[in-house]
Amino acid sequence: MKNSNFYITTPIYYPSGKPHMGHAYSSILADVFARFNRINDCDVYFLTGTDEHGLKIQKAAEKNGLDPLTYCNKISEIFKDLTKKLNLSNDDFIRTTEKRHYESVNELWDKLVKSGDIYLSKYKGWYSVSDEAYYNPDEVVEKDGKKFSSFSGSAVEWVEEDSFFFKLSAWKNKLLDFYEKNENFILPISRRNEVIKFVKSGLKDLSVSRTSFTWGIKVPNNDKHVIYVWLDALTNYLSALNYPNTNDNLFKKFWPASIHVIGKDILRFHAIYWPAFLLAAKIKPPIRVFGHGWILSGEEKMSKSKGNILNPLEIIEKYGIDELRYYLMKEVSHGSDGSISLSSLENCINSDLANNYGNLCQRIFSFVKNNCSNTVKRSKNLSIKDKKLINETDKITKKLRDYMSNQSLNNYIKSVINISFLTNKYINDEEPWKLKINNIQEMNNILHLSLEQISKISILLSPIIPLATSKVLDALNIDNKLRNLSFLDKKKIIPDIVTINELNILFKKII
Ligand code: MSP
Repeated sequence: MKNSNFYITTPIYYPSGKPHMGHAYSSILADVFARFNRINDCDVYFLTGTDEHGLKIQKAAEKNGLDPLTYCNKISEIFKDLTKKLNLSNDDFIRTTEKRHYESVNELWDKLVKSGDIYLSKYKGWYSVSDEAYYNPDEVVEKDGKKFSSFSGSAVEWVEEDSFFFKLSAWKNKLLDFYEKNENFILPISRRNEVIKFVKSGLKDLSVSRTSFTWGIKVPNNDKHVIYVWLDALTNYLSALNYPNTNDNLFKKFWPASIHVIGKDILRFHAIYWPAFLLAAKIKPPIRVFGHGWILSGEEKMSKSKGNILNPLEIIEKYGIDELRYYLMKEVSHGSDGSISLSSLENCINSDLANNYGNLCQRIFSFVKNNCSNTVKRSKNLSIKDKKLINETDKITKKLRDYMSNQSLNNYIKSVINISFLTNKYINDEEPWKLKINNIQEMNNILHLSLEQISKISILLSPIIPLATSKVLDALNIDNKLRNLSFLDKKKIIPDIVTINELNILFKKII
């Protein structure tokens, strides 16, 4: 019996161009939380996919001389392939052009009509195709005769067309009440405050259908309108659990979602529109929306329109996927923006992976191979220094579950890497190589504790660098059933007599 159920989602990606580092970051972050919860004894369901409707995609298809579906089939595959290259552990990959999704969106629309939250009128205002977002006049600025959103910097155009509206204005107080009762619904706190301020300033009714193009899900019983792409896209989180079949096991088990991991640019959609739609349809809103920061190149958001993109696939090819995962997760802290560069990537690989964790594993494995014929035996009570290392490790590991439940991932990583540092220091101080002749028993004890520490560190790092850590855990012959956090409750990982296998270099130092 698992501890609890954990449903985690990434944003579903617009297949409107090549995947970039921002996409990779969002996905890896969610994957790390998914993997951590799996080793923390939760039943995890992890979803990603592609968001294929709307004017942005219709235009991208036209530019490529393809009909929208053929275009989406092609680009969606590229994103699917990205999930493999990033070593994501997603349980599903949803496409909003799938039948299961249409059924779910139709049902949600019907619910909103029945609750009296939808009415027909005309939209007159600003729209950004690149953000697929409506902007108020006070959010639009002029530059060189062109209009842009002051919020995102994207170009906006004037739109006048028949449209169905969702009565968002009526949800202002109910939303504020919901945020108050669910303090941790939006994290980090700075984003929660930003959303509350925006909602308090008043909400306008939201246009939820378009009539000037056709690429989307048609409004039930009204072919002239396609459903606004954000109402369509957000519903993917329900479609993947087989909504509208609320008796389905997946739905019963995993809804409401434990966390939607998203970038801060799409916070409004997830933290305002989405809970309002769900509350109106009498469906429970998700437990949490975590808005991470942006990956910056220098001072700017990395994005296709700015042309400052670091290609994740090239980086993986040159440095390796664990290296990229570790770097992105460590570099960008708890919801803030993070500037990335090749030189800081190389420094990070050398200092944390090659010199610290990699070196710890390599030095102990080769010592055990060369001096103990691969087998180490623990044979005495712990020394004061052993106890000190174990206590220091315990003190650090006690905080780790809390860090993860607050999405404070880089505190988590720093803490685990510190355990590796302390273990390296313990070995330097204990100098097992000096005991080879006169005190084999003591030497074995030091090596045994070092191997136990390596097992703990490897399990703790496994959500972040799954490939390297599984090589180490395999070389330690640790059963899959033990590759979880039960050791935090004082369970030993390796037996008193432990035999290791060959371990090749884990991380090459970059010179
Ligand atoms: N299709 C919508 C999401 C719909 S979810 C119901 C979308 N897609 S996107 O492809 O434009 O972006 C996907 C994710 O990548 C978003 O969380 C976005 O914030 C993130 N990033 C895109 N560029 C980014 C950076 N430069 N840095 C970090 N993440 C950013 O939005």
